[in-house]
Amino acid sequence: MTDNRTYRLAVLPGDGIGPEVTREAVRVLEAAAGRFGFRLEATTHPVGGAALDASGDPLPPETQAACRAADAVLLGAVGGPAWDEAPPGRRPEDGLLRLRRLLGAFANLRPVTVPAALAGASPLRPERVAGTDLVIVRELTGGIYFGTPRGIEQGPEGRRGVNTMRYDEAEIERIATVAFELAARRRGRVTSVDKANVLDVSRLWREVVTSVHRDRFPEIELDHLYVDNAAMQLVRDPRRFDVVLTANLFGDILSDLAATLPGSLGLLPSASIGGGVGLFEPVHGSAPDLAGTGRANPLAAILSGAMLLEHLGESDAAAAVRRAVASTLDDGFRTPDLAGDGEAACSTQAMGAAVCERLESTEVMA
Ligand code: IPM
Ligand code: MG
Repeated sequence: MTDNRTYRLAVLPGDGIGPEVTREAVRVLEAAAGRFGFRLEATTHPVGGAALDASGDPLPPETQAACRAADAVLLGAVGGPAWDEAPPGRRPEDGLLRLRRLLGAFANLRPVTVPAALAGASPLRPERVAGTDLVIVRELTGGIYFGTPRGIEQGPEGRRGVNTMRYDEAEIERIATVAFELAARRRGRVTSVDKANVLDVSRLWREVVTSVHRDRFPEIELDHLYVDNAAMQLVRDPRRFDVVLTANLFGDILSDLAATLPGSLGLLPSASIGGGVGLFEPVHGSAPDLAGTGRANPLAAILSGAMLLEHLGESDAAAAVRRAVASTLDDGFRTPDLAGDGEAACSTQAMGAAVCERLESTEVMA
């Protein structure tokens, strides 16, 4: 082979279970590299609470520079009770929000599938959730997370807290484009979620989505739901959804809700793209109560690794990682979050090792 594909990977383990799940994900990525003939140059950098403790900054300049220079960023999780009382700007979460902005990662893709082997682990009836296959496309660098004015100020009658939900037309247009393009490669259906019956910003959202659809993607099926109704439909009939397009805050809430479908947040990966460098991270948080116990599920991090490979153009390797995860589950490996009554549970490491083993025995097409 003459090609020499080498990718620079910035690994940001972060807090809580972040380090242990990213360790397994990196192992799997290395195994994929070996199998599919590319090289990874992975370097590790502090973010979140770990970075705050080390340097007082949740996204130190060294980490920023490494992320900007990388081909992709793999992040674990940030946050924990130790930093809950920290002032704004000095919280682990600030590091993550700043990183998303720094990378221009305005499109957050959160796929939710319910593998047949796991339909029984869902808190919902298996026959309602089996076969669910949807992607939440969440706007990630705008909306109420970043809008100004914001803050807590002294009013005449006591303190007042303010945040502002705002979207420019151009911001709505570009995230809608991502959703329609994704739907064109899937089942051809977009559901845009807003609160246009109450919020002006949502009225504009709906107008812009409708006109992007009419002008550029008429072959895609589009419907609109209010966010409260969308929450209900996601639980009642998740299989009706293909691509769910929504704003930052609504997407944050709906993606945790959708995570109940496969029964565990520990399965859901995400990709944040749109700028030059993609950011890949599990949807779950730092789960401080699980940290260091070997009970964390590394599959969300591993599947985030698969999204990372896909984004780098290593589609065969990405597909092989997904197949290896599926066969690990088929073979009965369950971390405690997935184990049903009477089922034996395996450790974080054992789950990662099982995926690596299956990946290493994967057939590679010449
Ligand atoms: C997520 C998380 C983050 C968010 C937090 C940790 C800032 O909940 O990625 O969904 O709200 O975006
Ligand atoms: Mg969230």
